[in-house]
Order: sequence, then structure tokens, then C-alpha cells
Amino acid sequence: MSDTDYFEMNRMGWDQRVKAHFESRFYDVEGFLAGQTSLREIELAELSEVSGKRLLHLQCHFGLDTLSWVRKGAICTGVDISSMAIQQARELMGRAKLNAEFVCSDVYGFRPKEVGSFEIVYTSYGSVCWMPDLNRWAEVISSNLAVGGTFYMVEFHPIYDLLAGYSYFTTEVPDVEEEGTYTENGADVVAKLATWAHPLSSVINALIGAGIQVERVNEFSFSPYNCFDDMVEREPGRFYLSHRGNDVPIVYSLIGRKVA
Ligand SMILES: C[S@@+](CC[C@H](N)C(=O)[O-])C[C@H]1O[C@@H](n2cnc3c(N)ncnc32)[C@H](O)[C@@H]1O
Repeated sequence: MSDTDYFEMNRMGWDQRVKAHFESRFYDVEGFLAGQTSLREIELAELSEVSGKRLLHLQCHFGLDTLSWVRKGAICTGVDISSMAIQQARELMGRAKLNAEFVCSDVYGFRPKEVGSFEIVYTSYGSVCWMPDLNRWAEVISSNLAVGGTFYMVEFHPIYDLLAGYSYFTTEVPDVEEEGTYTENGADVVAKLATWAHPLSSVINALIGAGIQVERVNEFSFSPYNCFDDMVEREPGRFYLSHRGNDVPIVYSLIGRKVA
């Protein structure tokens, strides 16, 4: 199968998930509409200066985090491969009386109207595994960023893949599985999806290769999402996973700057 075939499989799978996700307690759309942010403590602490900035949110799903950044004053564009997700994002934007641009596109196909249109490019939890080639991903980030602009990502740590019985290193063919989704109401929303493993070094090196100077990488022993088996909430909103008695690094974040 070609990458195009895998993307089509993933697009259909994500389309299938949108309704259940939108209605789930996991995403808590009601809370968002009542004024709560969907953003979590890590990104709120590390990406604090967004007001008045043009922010590109890659793989924005149905726009909950995008619109939370809008509430913090960012001028946002959200991009996602799923047309159902983008349709739902636009509907949510109307209900929340907020403004953003939502574009249905595969990440690789998203080209800026003008090179360097954004001051911030942002992507989060559960994004990188949908990219077969991180060099192409990093090129899209770089071409969308203005010189001096910030790239920020917060992502599940790839070591989890290894502990869960998958490859840590990128394999020639993606892992294809048919399974329910991760929200509490999603066991019956079965979709076939293809994912690619990427070690931390591949993420960092792809960004460096595309002209993003990596300023900081942080690793966290907790996840703000309770989305893997056997996690324990030791403090409110912090879910930990142990391996042979020690904490697993379950999330990492990266801050980079576009250099000329
Ligand atoms: C786990 S969700 C990301 C949620 C994220 N934490 C957020 O900001 O809301 C993954 C998203 O990636 C999207 N996606 C998967 N493959 C993609 C691709 N090749 N290009 C663009 N979006 C893609 C899916 O449609 C889905 O909405």
C-alpha cells in the first residue's frame, strides 16, 4: 500500500471517530462551551505568549484546543485530514462565538499562502504517529513559520510504544490495527488505522534538518490524559504509569525556533 492509501484509511477512520469524541466526557465539549479551556497544564505553562500571534495548529481534530488558543488571544488556523472533524470544528466555533480558520488538508499538503505566515506552529498529543516521513512533516512546519517564530509540540513519549509491545524504531511498513477509540464511549467505534513509530531522535533531527533550532526538550512522568492501560491518577489531572516500580516518561515537549 502507498502512503496515499494509508492516509485514505486514516482519514476514514478519523471521520468515524468524530461524533463519539465530540459527545464524550473525555473531550468535555460542554465544559469548553461553559468557558473552560481544553488545554492542559504542560502546554499552558510552556506556550504562554500567544496573544495577538498567528498560530497554526496541525492535526487540530475538531478544534477544541484551537479554539482554546483563540480564547487566549491567538489568531488561529487549524488543519486536519478529517472532513468530519473540520465540519465539527466550524460548528463548534459558531456555538462558542469564536473565530478561527479551519482547513481540511493532509499535513503534507498544507502549504502556506505565503511562506512564513505563522509566528507559532503547534501540535499536540497523538500527532506524530500519523506521519510516515518526519522530514516532510518538519519541512511543512518550517515553511509555515516566520523566521524567529516558535514551534511547540507536546506529545506522548515513544517509549510507551515499546512498553506496550510495539516497535520503538520506525519500521518499513506502518502498524495497522482495527480497534475501538480511546474515549470512554468509543469501544464500538471500530476503525482501521495505520500508525508509524518514530524515536525521539528522529523527531529532533527532522526539525533540525528543516531549519528549526531546538531550544528545549522536556520529559514528563505524567500524562494529562488517562488514555493508556493501568495509569494511576496520583494528583488531579496527572496520570502516571509505572514500569518495574519506576515512573515511565509518558509525555515530552519540544520548543524550537525557526532560524533564517
Ligand atoms: C489524536 S488527534 C490529535 C488531537 C490533538 N491533541 C488536538 O490538538 O486536538 C489526531 C488528529 O490527527 C489527524 N490526522 C491524522 N493523520 C493526519 C494527516 N496525515 N494530516 C492531517 N491530519 C491528520 C486526525 O484526523 C486527528 O484529528
